[in-house]
Amino acid sequence: MKPLRLALLGFGTVGQWLAQALQTQHAWLQQEYGLVVTIVSVATARSGLIYRGDGLDIPTLLHLAATRQSLSAHPEVIHWTNILEGLQASWGDVLVEATGATLRHGEPGMSYIRAALMQGMHVVTSSKGPVALVGRDLLALARAHGVQLRMESTVMSGTPVLSTIREGMAGTRIRAIRGLLNGTVNSILSAMALGQSYAEALAQAQAQGYAEADPTDDVEGDDAVAKTLILAAVAFDRTLAPSQVLQRGITSLTREQVQQADALGQRIKHVASLRLLSLDGTEVSRATADQDSTHTRLEARVEPIALPLTDPLARIDGLLNAIVIQTDTAASVMVIGPGAGRFQAGQGVLADLIAIAKSS
Ligand SMILES: NC(=O)c1ccc[n+]([C@@H]2O[C@H](COP(=O)([O-])OP(=O)(O)OC[C@H]3O[C@@H](n4cnc5c(N)ncnc54)[C@H](OP(=O)(O)O)[C@@H]3O)[C@@H](O)[C@H]2O)c1
Repeated sequence: MKPLRLALLGFGTVGQWLAQALQTQHAWLQQEYGLVVTIVSVATARSGLIYRGDGLDIPTLLHLAATRQSLSAHPEVIHWTNILEGLQASWGDVLVEATGATLRHGEPGMSYIRAALMQGMHVVTSSKGPVALVGRDLLALARAHGVQLRMESTVMSGTPVLSTIREGMAGTRIRAIRGLLNGTVNSILSAMALGQSYAEALAQAQAQGYAEADPTDDVEGDDAVAKTLILAAVAFDRTLAPSQVLQRGITSLTREQVQQADALGQRIKHVASLRLLSLDGTEVSRATADQDSTHTRLEARVEPIALPLTDPLARIDGLLNAIVIQTDTAASVMVIGPGAGRFQAGQGVLADLIAIAKSS
């Protein structure tokens, strides 16, 4: 395995976690996986891009970030205020894109990812926006340039869902996916199942730091829609626009509705689902299935559903996420794990890096 020269865009929670892990676990990563990484460039909104061909010093980078100094204070670097120009002028094997790209237009991540792929760099991204909006196009661009685009952290954070689909389940045809993809929403619904109102459960989640002060993206389902679009690209090779996903949030759910479901032996869960259907709306036959988009369509929904307790998703509570993948060979495969968190997101990026290093 050859050493990887890494360009790191975004040096916040995820970027710093990764740099720290590469520093502290250096010997183990080399011994266990043959992974040797040199961080040659780092970029942030405030600092622009810094580059040093023989490698940046990780403790210095972490110190500058912790003391809120510009990264351009790192010794002996070339510095660009325009990050895209810096990326195109410098050289690396892998781009790790961990900026806060928005779900609305996918920038800045989308431009950085495109530029890197077109330069023949592998890309690992933890930003949902670009891969939700144009994931299939970006995957095609990566293939056209003979490189990989990986995004494990974007769905269920570091819990290995996308690698399970892409590598673990390679050779199967996926027919349907159902999942609980947002821990904040699942924790609110779990608290409501114990008797709280929506407002009480949201206030508790905010007090415990699980919900944002403005929880709209979570509780209205935008975050789950983005993850559903990523799954559509990775598992079904389809591009869906956000408007093609039926989207219902949980804000109008009442305690009474949750209690009624409970009395019927059901649990209300916020379920994201993708289902391959024939054009007439019927299930695709397992034996003759053809995923060609001219013969099938992909139904996508994010909505609260009352699930019977026999449904494995009904018993997934609190911050946990879960996904059930139905294929034509294995009846169904379920993955359960945390869906957020600094460690999980960084771990997903690290696992993607190791996968790239193994195949380089
Ligand atoms: N944290 C998690 O648990 C987690 C989990 C899964 C996925 N993610 C995703 O991973 C990405 C990074 O998350 P994070 O928590 O590390 O975010 P963060 O702590 O807010 O850090 C974002 C970094 O990106 C930089 N940045 C922002 N706009 C930029 C631009 N236009 N060009 C270059 N750099 C820019 C910021 O620069 P400054 O330092 O100058 O502000 C900062 O260094 C996000 O898309 C997030 O949704 C995070």
